[in-house]
Amino acid sequence: MALTKDTRITLNDGNTMPVLGLGTYAAPDVPKIQAEEATKIAIDLGYRHIDCAYVYNNEVQIGNAIRAKIADGTVRREDIFYTGKLYSTFFNPVLARKGFEKSIQDLQLDYLDLFLLHWPFSLKLAEGEESISPDKPYVYDNVDFCDTWEVLEQLKDAGLVKSIGVSNFNKRQLERLLSKPGLKYKPVCNQVECHVYLSQSKLQAYCKSKDIVLVAYSVLGSHRDKDWVDLSTPVLLEDPVLASVAAKYNRSPAEVAMRFVLQKGIVVLAKSFSVARLKQNLGVFDFELKPEDMETLEGLNKNLHYGAFKEMKQHPEYPFHEEY
Ligand SMILES: NC(=O)c1ccc[n+]([C@@H]2O[C@H](COP(=O)([O-])OP(=O)(O)OC[C@H]3O[C@@H](n4cnc5c(N)ncnc54)[C@H](OP(=O)(O)O)[C@@H]3O)[C@@H](O)[C@H]2O)c1
Repeated sequence: MALTKDTRITLNDGNTMPVLGLGTYAAPDVPKIQAEEATKIAIDLGYRHIDCAYVYNNEVQIGNAIRAKIADGTVRREDIFYTGKLYSTFFNPVLARKGFEKSIQDLQLDYLDLFLLHWPFSLKLAEGEESISPDKPYVYDNVDFCDTWEVLEQLKDAGLVKSIGVSNFNKRQLERLLSKPGLKYKPVCNQVECHVYLSQSKLQAYCKSKDIVLVAYSVLGSHRDKDWVDLSTPVLLEDPVLASVAAKYNRSPAEVAMRFVLQKGIVVLAKSFSVARLKQNLGVFDFELKPEDMETLEGLNKNLHYGAFKEMKQHPEYPFHEEY
């Protein structure tokens, strides 16, 4: 079946997710209003899946955009697939409910389509801090994500979130969650970094065997926000092999980078706050990569994590020590 911007993938709980999502993270110095404007334009262009999180500090603006597009008749609430994420500082089960409530109040929505555990590790805020900052040392916490998961299951039972899933989990952590005594709902997805330099084939195969959808972030090579990404890493969209495949199809490197991941059967998130690039990225549905070009792009894999989150390396639940 040909992929279109309206293609949706069925999740293990029966709900469906559009195969292309709009990323909304931007560095703190980017005015928040840009996220609101870009989300409105993206909805006008036909994007229906919006990926956000408490820690992006822009749920107020994203909620404004979604509600404005419902109010002007462009979409109905049920046309939009909104993903939120519970940050690591809310893993204590009492705080988890508060973390959800903060998101839903900021968004001014009645429910979330998908709510994820943002990371497998838990953190505490330092004394006197209101939010995590890359300038301050992280304070590790030892709340087990299996305990936090029960709160997500309750939110699903209450109809406040339609689906629940995880992000940045490795195979061992997924196995531990799946074998949790009394597990009521499996995660519907695992949202992870995935692109031509990090093809995630082994994690994808494992997730597929458990009916868990892989959702890819940083498909275009990430936001390269200096607080989170090592700027000595190669710029993905400048890769010469990617450029040569793109030239062959008369497409941009961004479209080919996205198409590669989509054609692997992985849901793609791509962030842009530019009207031209939001439009360009929808071109991903207008061509198909031949098997030999898929193979060439697969050959670029070097297991590179742009978002390695090195500050967390000593945490017992740091997910990237294992191969996948
Ligand atoms: N679960 C997690 O832990 C996690 C981690 C990271 C990201 N995410 C999610 O995934 C989303 C996407 O990942 P990401 O933000 O790391 O980055 P990304 O989507 O890989 O790349 C975004 C960058 O690419 C640029 N861009 C977009 N379209 C382009 C095009 N056609 N040509 C050239 N450049 C283009 C954007 O700039 P312009 O805006 O100027 O176009 C931006 O600088 C995030 O926004 C967030 O929603 C989740």
